[in-house]
Amino acid sequence: MNSWPAVEIERIRRAGLLRRLVTTSPPCHGKIRVEGKPLVDFSSNDYMGLSQHPALKDAAAIAAKAYGVGSRASRLMSGNIDLYDRLEKKLARLKGTESSLVFGSGYLCNLAVISSLAGPGDIVLLDRLCHASMVDGALLSGARISRFGHNDVAALEDILVRKRDRYKRVLICIETVYSMDGDIAPVAEFIQAARAHEAMLLADEAHAVGVFGKDGEGVINRLDREKPTVMIGTFGKALGGYGAFCTTTLQFREYLVNKARSLIYSTALPPPVLAANLKAVEILPGMKETRERLLARAARFRELLSRRFCIETRGNSQIIPLILHDIKTVIELERHLQGNGILARAIRPPTVPKDSPRIRFSFSSAIEDRDISKLEAALARFFKGNRPR
Ligand SMILES: Cc1ncc(COP(=O)(O)O)c(C=O)c1O
Repeated sequence: MNSWPAVEIERIRRAGLLRRLVTTSPPCHGKIRVEGKPLVDFSSNDYMGLSQHPALKDAAAIAAKAYGVGSRASRLMSGNIDLYDRLEKKLARLKGTESSLVFGSGYLCNLAVISSLAGPGDIVLLDRLCHASMVDGALLSGARISRFGHNDVAALEDILVRKRDRYKRVLICIETVYSMDGDIAPVAEFIQAARAHEAMLLADEAHAVGVFGKDGEGVINRLDREKPTVMIGTFGKALGGYGAFCTTTLQFREYLVNKARSLIYSTALPPPVLAANLKAVEILPGMKETRERLLARAARFRELLSRRFCIETRGNSQIIPLILHDIKTVIELERHLQGNGILARAIRPPTVPKDSPRIRFSFSSAIEDRDISKLEAALARFFKGNRPR
């Protein structure tokens, strides 16, 4: 009886799906150390390199001295320090919304927002490739769940036409830049569909904020009049820190302050983290050149995958999946790349669908042209001039 975890672990291992925590050390000159070895890092979501930015480090250090290292209570008790107000005002301005609300992390934010906006008697409609935090939020809500084909607005509309009347509230959930596929949603079409069927739309911009938009606001232009009902963003990716936010109307914000359980029942973010997040939002608009360079390098690699290895990838973001269809080859390629000084992670089911395990190349501002050449040489050795299956 006591050995049941061992049996389950063995089953996961045999399927080639065992996960393992590996100790890393912070990046230095664009390289991350894994088990002591320096590697070019294609694995992090620190797209703009902000986790190591001196201005963010200084802001965090000053806040630690002024406020201490912890926030001591949840936001609704006494943890709602003035840094929250300043940060939320700046976020609303960045996204062109009436208000914003900061949460502990993107996972906690999706969990709370989705389970607050929908409940029993409602339906949550999720893009097939939506992140686990959105799926979990939908499960927690107690609403009916239905999934539609990836980025397929027609499939969504088909469900809405057939089922809308059966439910009180409808919440549609999409990402704008997909975390494991790197492609971009047709957001305007989703907004129209939601509007036509009196549904709410939640757009998760976790991988878009910081990288896209004139000032780094994300895929959804802050000047657009028609916006999703709520937009989600996280500080843990391009903004280099930790935590997350949703941007929405004042009314929805007030509703969420009263309903969002991960906000109500969890300790507020530490002051140094809030201060670093605030600094990131302040400097983001001035990083246009970094954004352009990052996306140009990623585009160069996409073009190279197509020309040299006949691998076509969707989208035009900083996330590039090399889909290989069999888990063994994906794991072999991950090891081969690591042996050649490159860290790019194998992504396997259940994170991605069964038939599309992949290596996820995540570009950051630290990646240089010579790193792409190194990656090209390593891939050529692995595929030995053959087109991958
Ligand atoms: C689309 C999406 N939403 C939310 C999250 C969770 O964000 P966080 O890492 O801040 O918990 C992720 C993280 O990978 C994500 O990809």
